[in-house]
Amino acid sequence: MIEQIEKLLGQARSELASAADEKQIEAVRVKYLGKSGSLSGLRKAMGSVPAQERPRMGKLVTDAIAQFEGLLEEARKNVSRKSLEADLQREKLDVTLPGRRLERGRRHVVSQAFDDIIEIFARLGFHVADGPEIEWDLYNFEKLGFPSDHPARDMQDTFFLETRLPPPPGSPPGTHGQQLLLRTHTSPVQVREMISHPPPVRIIAPGKVYRSDSDITHTPMFHQVECLHVEEGISMAHLRGTLDAFAKAFFGPQVKTRLRPSYFPFTEPSAEVDISHPLCDGKGCRVCKFSGWLEVLGSGMVNPDVLEGVGYDPEKYTGYAFGAGIDRLAMLRHGIDDLRSLFENDVRFLEQL
Ligand code: PHE
Repeated sequence: MIEQIEKLLGQARSELASAADEKQIEAVRVKYLGKSGSLSGLRKAMGSVPAQERPRMGKLVTDAIAQFEGLLEEARKNVSRKSLEADLQREKLDVTLPGRRLERGRRHVVSQAFDDIIEIFARLGFHVADGPEIEWDLYNFEKLGFPSDHPARDMQDTFFLETRLPPPPGSPPGTHGQQLLLRTHTSPVQVREMISHPPPVRIIAPGKVYRSDSDITHTPMFHQVECLHVEEGISMAHLRGTLDAFAKAFFGPQVKTRLRPSYFPFTEPSAEVDISHPLCDGKGCRVCKFSGWLEVLGSGMVNPDVLEGVGYDPEKYTGYAFGAGIDRLAMLRHGIDDLRSLFENDVRFLEQL
Protein backbone atom coordinates (compact mmCIF):
# COMPACT_ATOMS: atom_id res chain seq x y z
CA MET A 1 0.00 0.00 0.00
CA ILE A 2 2.83 2.36 0.81
CA GLU A 3 4.21 1.76 -2.66
CA GLN A 4 0.83 2.40 -4.18
CA ILE A 5 0.53 5.72 -2.32
CA GLU A 6 4.00 6.81 -3.42
CA LYS A 7 3.16 5.92 -6.99
CA LEU A 8 -0.13 7.84 -6.95
CA LEU A 9 1.47 10.95 -5.45
CA GLY A 10 4.32 10.84 -7.98
CA GLN A 11 1.80 10.58 -10.81
CA ALA A 12 -0.31 13.43 -9.39
CA ARG A 13 2.76 15.65 -9.02
CA SER A 14 3.76 15.28 -12.68
CA GLU A 15 0.19 15.74 -13.91
CA LEU A 16 -0.15 18.95 -11.89
CA ALA A 17 3.17 20.20 -13.15
CA SER A 18 1.94 20.01 -16.73
CA ALA A 19 -1.55 21.46 -15.97
CA ALA A 20 -1.78 24.76 -17.85
CA ASP A 21 -4.87 26.28 -16.23
CA GLU A 22 -7.49 26.07 -13.46
CA LYS A 23 -9.61 23.70 -15.48
CA GLN A 24 -6.87 21.13 -15.94
CA ILE A 25 -5.97 21.38 -12.24
CA GLU A 26 -9.60 20.71 -11.37
CA ALA A 27 -9.58 17.63 -13.62
CA VAL A 28 -6.56 16.27 -11.70
CA ARG A 29 -8.28 16.97 -8.37
CA VAL A 30 -11.37 15.04 -9.47
CA LYS A 31 -9.25 12.17 -10.74
CA TYR A 32 -7.60 11.70 -7.31
CA LEU A 33 -10.10 13.02 -4.80
CA GLY A 34 -13.46 12.72 -6.57
CA LYS A 35 -16.08 10.11 -5.58
CA SER A 36 -14.32 7.39 -7.54
CA GLY A 37 -10.90 9.04 -7.37
CA SER A 38 -7.84 6.91 -6.74
CA LEU A 39 -6.89 8.50 -3.37
CA SER A 40 -10.50 8.35 -2.24
CA GLY A 41 -10.40 4.66 -3.29
CA LEU A 42 -7.60 4.03 -0.79
CA ARG A 43 -9.78 5.37 2.00
CA LYS A 44 -12.60 3.02 1.01
CA ALA A 45 -10.13 0.12 0.92
CA MET A 46 -9.44 0.64 4.66
CA GLY A 47 -12.25 -1.76 5.43
CA SER A 48 -10.24 -4.69 4.18
CA VAL A 49 -7.10 -3.79 6.13
CA PRO A 50 -6.50 -5.97 9.22
CA ALA A 51 -7.60 -4.18 12.40
CA GLN A 52 -4.16 -3.80 13.96
CA GLU A 53 -2.75 -2.27 10.75
CA ARG A 54 -5.64 0.13 10.31
CA PRO A 55 -4.43 3.15 12.43
CA ARG A 56 -1.03 3.18 10.73
CA MET A 57 -2.46 2.77 7.22
CA GLY A 58 -5.21 5.29 7.98
CA LYS A 59 -2.59 7.88 8.92
CA LEU A 60 -0.61 7.15 5.73
CA VAL A 61 -3.70 7.75 3.56
CA THR A 62 -4.68 10.93 5.45
CA ASP A 63 -1.13 12.29 5.11
CA ALA A 64 -1.09 11.42 1.39
CA ILE A 65 -4.35 13.31 0.86
CA ALA A 66 -3.01 16.33 2.77
CA GLN A 67 0.15 16.22 0.69
CA PHE A 68 -1.91 16.04 -2.52
CA GLU A 69 -3.95 19.04 -1.41
CA GLY A 70 -0.72 20.92 -0.82
CA LEU A 71 0.35 20.07 -4.38
CA LEU A 72 -2.98 21.34 -5.72
CA GLU A 73 -2.58 24.64 -3.90
CA GLU A 74 0.92 25.11 -5.25
CA ALA A 75 -0.21 24.31 -8.81
CA ARG A 76 -3.03 26.87 -8.57
CA LYS A 77 -0.65 29.59 -7.41
CA ASN A 78 1.69 28.74 -10.26
CA VAL A 79 -1.01 29.00 -12.88
CA SER A 80 -2.31 32.36 -11.64
CA ARG A 81 1.21 33.80 -11.41
CA LYS A 82 1.89 32.73 -14.99
CA SER A 83 -1.32 34.28 -16.30
CA LEU A 84 -0.56 37.53 -14.47
CA GLU A 85 2.89 37.61 -16.05
CA ALA A 86 1.38 36.97 -19.47
CA ASP A 87 -1.09 39.83 -18.92
CA LEU A 88 1.64 42.23 -17.91
CA GLN A 89 3.68 41.25 -20.92
CA ARG A 90 0.77 41.75 -23.30
CA GLU A 91 -0.38 45.09 -21.88
CA LYS A 92 3.02 46.68 -21.83
CA LEU A 93 2.75 50.47 -22.25
CA ASP A 94 5.12 52.39 -24.43
CA VAL A 95 5.22 55.71 -22.61
CA THR A 96 7.47 57.19 -25.30
CA LEU A 97 4.72 57.07 -27.96
CA PRO A 98 3.36 60.53 -28.91
CA GLY A 99 0.01 61.37 -27.27
CA ARG A 100 -3.30 61.55 -29.10
CA ARG A 101 -4.51 65.13 -29.62
CA LEU A 102 -7.90 65.93 -28.10
CA GLU A 103 -9.94 68.05 -30.49
CA ARG A 104 -11.71 70.79 -28.58
CA GLY A 105 -15.15 71.89 -29.74
CA ARG A 106 -16.16 75.53 -29.55
CA ARG A 107 -19.25 77.58 -30.18
CA HIS A 108 -20.19 78.34 -33.78
CA VAL A 109 -19.37 81.92 -34.85
CA VAL A 110 -23.09 82.67 -35.27
CA SER A 111 -23.81 81.43 -31.73
CA GLN A 112 -20.92 83.54 -30.44
CA ALA A 113 -22.27 86.62 -32.20
CA PHE A 114 -25.76 85.81 -30.84
CA ASP A 115 -24.48 85.65 -27.25
CA ASP A 116 -22.29 88.76 -27.60
CA ILE A 117 -25.21 90.79 -28.97
CA ILE A 118 -27.50 89.71 -26.13
CA GLU A 119 -24.81 90.61 -23.60
CA ILE A 120 -24.08 94.03 -25.10
CA PHE A 121 -27.76 94.98 -25.12
CA ALA A 122 -28.32 93.57 -21.63
CA ARG A 123 -25.67 96.06 -20.44
CA LEU A 124 -27.61 98.84 -22.21
CA GLY A 125 -30.79 97.83 -20.32
CA PHE A 126 -32.60 95.75 -22.98
CA HIS A 127 -34.20 92.41 -22.28
CA VAL A 128 -34.71 89.52 -24.71
CA ALA A 129 -38.17 88.98 -26.25
CA ASP A 130 -39.22 86.01 -28.35
CA GLY A 131 -41.73 85.30 -31.10
CA PRO A 132 -42.72 82.35 -33.30
CA GLU A 133 -40.89 81.53 -36.56
CA ILE A 134 -44.22 80.44 -38.07
CA GLU A 135 -46.03 83.75 -38.07
CA TRP A 136 -49.26 85.38 -39.18
CA ASP A 137 -49.10 87.80 -42.10
CA LEU A 138 -50.98 90.11 -39.69
CA TYR A 139 -47.85 90.56 -37.54
CA ASN A 140 -45.18 90.05 -40.19
CA PHE A 141 -46.76 92.56 -42.64
CA GLU A 142 -50.18 94.14 -41.99
CA LYS A 143 -49.53 95.67 -38.58
CA LEU A 144 -46.15 96.90 -39.79
CA GLY A 145 -47.76 98.99 -42.49
CA PHE A 146 -47.51 96.57 -45.42
CA PRO A 147 -51.15 96.37 -46.63
CA SER A 148 -52.05 93.52 -48.99
CA ASP A 149 -51.05 95.22 -52.23
CA HIS A 150 -48.11 97.19 -50.88
CA PRO A 151 -45.08 96.94 -53.18
CA ALA A 152 -42.71 96.78 -50.20
CA ARG A 153 -43.91 93.19 -49.68
CA ASP A 154 -41.76 92.32 -52.67
CA MET A 155 -38.66 93.39 -50.73
CA GLN A 156 -38.93 90.02 -49.00
CA ASP A 157 -39.46 86.72 -50.82
CA THR A 158 -41.88 85.05 -48.48
CA PHE A 159 -42.48 81.34 -47.82
CA PHE A 160 -46.25 81.03 -47.36
CA LEU A 161 -47.84 78.13 -45.46
CA GLU A 162 -51.21 76.47 -45.61
CA THR A 163 -53.24 76.32 -42.44
CA ARG A 164 -56.57 75.28 -40.96
CA LEU A 165 -55.87 77.21 -37.76
CA PRO A 166 -58.48 79.78 -36.70
CA PRO A 167 -57.33 83.27 -37.81
CA PRO A 168 -55.46 85.48 -35.33
CA PRO A 169 -57.52 87.89 -33.21
CA GLY A 170 -57.79 91.35 -34.76
CA SER A 171 -57.46 90.30 -38.39
CA PRO A 172 -60.28 91.53 -40.62
CA PRO A 173 -61.87 88.51 -42.40
CA GLY A 174 -60.78 87.88 -45.97
CA THR A 175 -57.51 89.85 -45.64
CA HIS A 176 -53.95 88.67 -46.12
CA GLY A 177 -53.52 88.94 -42.34
CA GLN A 178 -54.98 85.45 -41.97
CA GLN A 179 -52.24 83.92 -44.09
CA LEU A 180 -49.61 81.87 -42.25
CA LEU A 181 -45.96 82.21 -43.29
CA LEU A 182 -42.37 81.78 -42.16
CA ARG A 183 -41.46 85.16 -40.72
CA THR A 184 -39.28 87.13 -43.11
CA HIS A 185 -37.83 89.38 -40.39
CA THR A 186 -37.84 89.73 -36.62
CA SER A 187 -39.99 92.87 -36.76
CA PRO A 188 -43.25 90.97 -35.97
CA VAL A 189 -41.82 90.54 -32.45
CA GLN A 190 -42.08 94.35 -32.10
CA VAL A 191 -45.81 94.12 -32.75
CA ARG A 192 -46.34 91.15 -30.43
CA GLU A 193 -44.36 92.83 -27.67
CA MET A 194 -46.28 96.11 -27.87
CA ILE A 195 -49.67 94.38 -28.09
CA SER A 196 -48.94 92.40 -24.94
CA HIS A 197 -47.08 95.06 -22.88
CA PRO A 198 -47.90 98.70 -22.09
CA PRO A 199 -45.08 101.20 -22.75
CA PRO A 200 -42.22 101.66 -22.06
CA VAL A 201 -40.65 98.72 -23.96
CA ARG A 202 -36.96 98.15 -24.40
CA ILE A 203 -36.31 94.80 -26.03
CA ILE A 204 -34.11 92.91 -28.43
CA ALA A 205 -35.45 89.89 -30.30
CA PRO A 206 -32.81 87.62 -31.84
CA GLY A 207 -33.88 84.63 -33.91
CA LYS A 208 -34.23 82.78 -37.21
CA VAL A 209 -35.94 84.32 -40.24
CA TYR A 210 -36.68 82.91 -43.70
CA ARG A 211 -36.67 84.19 -47.28
CA SER A 212 -36.80 82.34 -50.54
CA ASP A 213 -33.37 83.44 -51.65
CA SER A 214 -30.00 81.73 -52.02
CA ASP A 215 -26.62 82.98 -53.29
CA ILE A 216 -23.24 84.02 -51.91
CA THR A 217 -24.76 86.61 -49.56
CA HIS A 218 -28.20 85.01 -48.99
CA THR A 219 -29.37 81.74 -47.43
CA PRO A 220 -33.06 80.72 -47.12
CA MET A 221 -32.67 80.80 -43.33
CA PHE A 222 -30.63 83.42 -41.55
CA HIS A 223 -30.56 85.17 -38.21
CA GLN A 224 -31.68 88.66 -37.32
CA VAL A 225 -31.77 90.67 -34.16
CA GLU A 226 -34.50 93.24 -33.70
CA CYS A 227 -34.19 96.15 -31.32
CA LEU A 228 -37.13 98.23 -30.11
CA HIS A 229 -37.23 101.06 -27.63
CA VAL A 230 -40.48 102.97 -27.09
CA GLU A 231 -40.84 105.48 -24.31
CA GLU A 232 -41.78 109.13 -23.76
CA GLY A 233 -39.22 111.53 -25.22
CA ILE A 234 -37.27 109.10 -27.42
CA SER A 235 -35.63 110.72 -30.44
CA MET A 236 -33.37 109.87 -33.35
CA ALA A 237 -30.42 110.82 -31.12
CA HIS A 238 -31.16 107.79 -28.92
CA LEU A 239 -31.12 105.59 -32.01
CA ARG A 240 -27.75 106.98 -33.11
CA GLY A 241 -26.25 106.65 -29.64
CA THR A 242 -27.44 103.08 -29.16
CA LEU A 243 -26.26 102.00 -32.62
CA ASP A 244 -22.87 103.56 -32.12
CA ALA A 245 -22.45 101.99 -28.67
CA PHE A 246 -23.43 98.60 -30.10
CA ALA A 247 -21.08 98.83 -33.11
CA LYS A 248 -18.12 99.81 -30.92
CA ALA A 249 -18.83 97.05 -28.39
CA PHE A 250 -19.20 94.42 -31.11
CA PHE A 251 -16.47 95.39 -33.61
CA GLY A 252 -14.08 97.47 -31.49
CA PRO A 253 -13.78 101.08 -30.29
CA GLN A 254 -12.24 102.33 -33.56
CA VAL A 255 -15.42 101.58 -35.56
CA LYS A 256 -17.53 104.51 -36.76
CA THR A 257 -21.21 104.52 -37.83
CA ARG A 258 -23.19 106.58 -40.31
CA LEU A 259 -26.86 106.79 -41.27
CA ARG A 260 -28.24 107.01 -44.82
CA PRO A 261 -31.87 107.79 -45.64
CA SER A 262 -33.93 104.73 -46.53
CA TYR A 263 -37.47 103.43 -46.52
CA PHE A 264 -39.38 100.90 -44.42
CA PRO A 265 -43.18 101.03 -44.10
CA PHE A 266 -42.99 100.68 -40.31
CA THR A 267 -40.44 103.41 -39.57
CA GLU A 268 -40.51 107.11 -40.36
CA PRO A 269 -37.93 108.44 -40.95
CA SER A 270 -35.94 105.35 -41.88
CA ALA A 271 -32.21 104.89 -42.26
CA GLU A 272 -29.70 102.31 -43.41
CA VAL A 273 -26.76 102.10 -41.07
CA ASP A 274 -23.18 101.68 -42.25
CA ILE A 275 -20.12 100.94 -40.17
CA SER A 276 -16.55 101.76 -41.14
CA HIS A 277 -15.07 98.46 -42.33
CA PRO A 278 -13.32 96.97 -39.27
CA LEU A 279 -10.88 94.84 -41.31
CA CYS A 280 -9.40 97.66 -43.45
CA ASP A 281 -10.04 100.29 -40.78
CA GLY A 282 -12.25 102.27 -43.16
CA LYS A 283 -9.43 102.71 -45.68
CA GLY A 284 -11.21 100.74 -48.39
CA CYS A 285 -10.64 97.20 -49.65
CA ARG A 286 -12.17 94.55 -51.91
CA VAL A 287 -14.75 93.42 -49.31
CA CYS A 288 -16.14 96.94 -48.77
CA LYS A 289 -15.82 97.66 -52.49
CA PHE A 290 -13.13 100.26 -51.72
CA SER A 291 -15.66 102.54 -50.03
CA GLY A 292 -14.46 101.95 -46.46
CA TRP A 293 -18.12 101.49 -45.38
CA LEU A 294 -20.37 98.44 -44.97
CA GLU A 295 -24.12 98.39 -44.72
CA VAL A 296 -25.09 96.41 -41.61
CA LEU A 297 -28.68 97.15 -40.68
CA GLY A 298 -31.99 98.89 -41.25
CA SER A 299 -33.45 101.29 -38.70
CA GLY A 300 -35.78 104.17 -38.05
CA MET A 301 -38.24 105.89 -35.75
CA VAL A 302 -41.29 103.68 -35.19
CA ASN A 303 -44.06 104.87 -37.51
CA PRO A 304 -46.89 106.52 -35.47
CA ASP A 305 -49.38 104.36 -37.40
CA VAL A 306 -47.70 101.23 -36.04
CA LEU A 307 -47.89 102.62 -32.49
CA GLU A 308 -51.56 103.43 -32.96
CA GLY A 309 -52.20 99.95 -34.39
CA VAL A 310 -50.96 98.29 -31.21
CA GLY A 311 -52.91 100.65 -28.96
CA TYR A 312 -50.09 103.03 -27.96
CA ASP A 313 -50.73 106.80 -27.95
CA PRO A 314 -48.44 108.19 -30.68
CA GLU A 315 -48.86 111.73 -29.28
CA LYS A 316 -47.25 110.62 -26.05
CA TYR A 317 -44.83 107.89 -27.06
CA THR A 318 -42.08 107.71 -29.63
CA GLY A 319 -39.53 105.03 -30.29
CA TYR A 320 -36.82 103.70 -32.51
CA ALA A 321 -36.23 100.25 -33.95
CA PHE A 322 -33.57 98.50 -35.93
CA GLY A 323 -32.97 95.07 -37.39
CA ALA A 324 -29.60 93.55 -38.20
CA GLY A 325 -28.46 90.30 -39.81
CA ILE A 326 -26.52 88.38 -37.14
CA ASP A 327 -24.79 86.13 -39.68
CA ARG A 328 -23.60 89.16 -41.60
CA LEU A 329 -22.26 90.74 -38.41
CA ALA A 330 -20.41 87.49 -37.60
CA MET A 331 -18.99 87.32 -41.15
CA LEU A 332 -17.71 90.89 -41.01
CA ARG A 333 -16.09 90.27 -37.66
CA HIS A 334 -14.25 87.18 -38.93
CA GLY A 335 -13.57 88.28 -42.51
CA ILE A 336 -15.71 85.50 -44.03
CA ASP A 337 -16.95 86.29 -47.54
CA ASP A 338 -19.42 83.46 -48.32
CA LEU A 339 -22.50 83.39 -46.10
CA ARG A 340 -23.28 79.81 -47.08
CA SER A 341 -20.08 78.52 -45.48
CA LEU A 342 -21.59 79.35 -42.08
CA PHE A 343 -24.24 76.68 -42.54
CA GLU A 344 -22.42 73.93 -44.42
CA ASN A 345 -20.72 72.71 -41.22
CA ASP A 346 -17.51 71.81 -43.02
CA VAL A 347 -15.14 71.07 -40.13
CA ARG A 348 -12.11 72.28 -42.13
CA PHE A 349 -13.76 75.69 -42.42
CA LEU A 350 -15.04 75.85 -38.83
CA GLU A 351 -11.61 74.91 -37.44
CA GLN A 352 -10.08 78.06 -38.91
CA LEU A 353 -12.27 80.30 -36.81
N1 PHE B 1 -37.11 94.35 -40.64
C1 PHE B 1 -36.24 95.09 -41.54
C2 PHE B 1 -35.61 94.10 -42.54
O1 PHE B 1 -35.58 92.91 -42.27
C3 PHE B 1 -35.14 95.79 -40.79
C4 PHE B 1 -35.65 96.87 -39.90
C5 PHE B 1 -35.97 96.61 -38.57
C6 PHE B 1 -35.78 98.17 -40.36
C7 PHE B 1 -36.45 97.60 -37.73
C8 PHE B 1 -36.22 99.17 -39.54
C9 PHE B 1 -36.56 98.89 -38.25
O2 PHE B 1 -35.14 94.48 -43.57
